[in-house]
Amino acid sequence: MPKLIDSFNRQITYLRVSVTDKCDLKCSYCSPAKGGHLKGKYTEYLDANEITRICQAFIRLGVERFRFTGGEPLLRKDLPKIASNIHELEKHIDLSLSTNGTRLERYAQILYQSGIKRLNISLDSINPKKFNTITRGGNLEAVLRGIIKAKEQGFDPIKINTVMIKGVNDDEIEKLIDWSMDCGLELRFIEIMPIGQPGVDSMHQHMSMQEIIQRVENHLGETLIPSISRQGGGPAKYYRTPSKHLGIGIISAVSQHFCETCNRVRLTSRGRLALCLGQEHSVDLREPIRDNISDADLDKLITQAIELKPERHYFNENRHNIVFQKMVSLGG
Ligand code: 5AD
Repeated sequence: MPKLIDSFNRQITYLRVSVTDKCDLKCSYCSPAKGGHLKGKYTEYLDANEITRICQAFIRLGVERFRFTGGEPLLRKDLPKIASNIHELEKHIDLSLSTNGTRLERYAQILYQSGIKRLNISLDSINPKKFNTITRGGNLEAVLRGIIKAKEQGFDPIKINTVMIKGVNDDEIEKLIDWSMDCGLELRFIEIMPIGQPGVDSMHQHMSMQEIIQRVENHLGETLIPSISRQGGGPAKYYRTPSKHLGIGIISAVSQHFCETCNRVRLTSRGRLALCLGQEHSVDLREPIRDNISDADLDKLITQAIELKPERHYFNENRHNIVFQKMVSLGG
């Protein structure tokens, strides 16, 4: 089986598939207060068959993990169809979804049936008013109902991804820990990244992994120790406490990057293969596909694109100028 190896000898085993760059929430660090709605003609976006075809090529190249992202992926009505297309091709492929949860109550069942088994839910506050403020209009109740429905369906694990915004939601660290433990959810704290203008503008609210760890330790009254057995296939570092059954993940892209072990690339909803979250390198796959490229040539195009993957990003060094990217197009 051919493998996708980049020029720094990292194997790419994971594709994040952004199915839309539209979102029904406007989180402060991700979306501008006014405007910011991306407009795209219908034909600019990959259709379900085109997405499936690209995923199929990645499967031929040894990729066995796909995550659907957005924008908000559940704004796209054919997402369950896209997932089941891939699931039907290869039953062993690991399919997961990152969602803000607003439409999860309605879609949980059909998503589970389509072959998606793992779920990440972006949730920055469990205080209804604060949730509404951070998301500029979101309804926490709907998300909580979605989480309950997802648990009933059997998604496992369900991870809660919380972006830490200093002075805004860091007072909820303790509550979030207790709540996620009670609900049987895995909690992960994410450092704000300087991606896009809203991200850059939020860097004064950045809270580092060290500060987060300190707060968690104070709350639990114990020292966190790195959990060797729980280091997953992604960027989160997992910690546990000596006495409690608590695992907690921290994604420290800024204070301590993890580019040496990066195993992923991203497909945007308009068909570009983006090679790094913090760099501009990307390759268009949409036009070649619409020009009826052969499978062999598509595989070659992807293999060559992977060689362009940069060594690392510079979020920490360039906290103020990674404005050329848009998180809503890249899907986190
Ligand atoms: N920094 C960190 N996380 C971000 N997300 C969006 N923008 C940023 C940013 N600037 C997160 C969302 C979601 C995931 C897909 O990306 O909150 O959890």
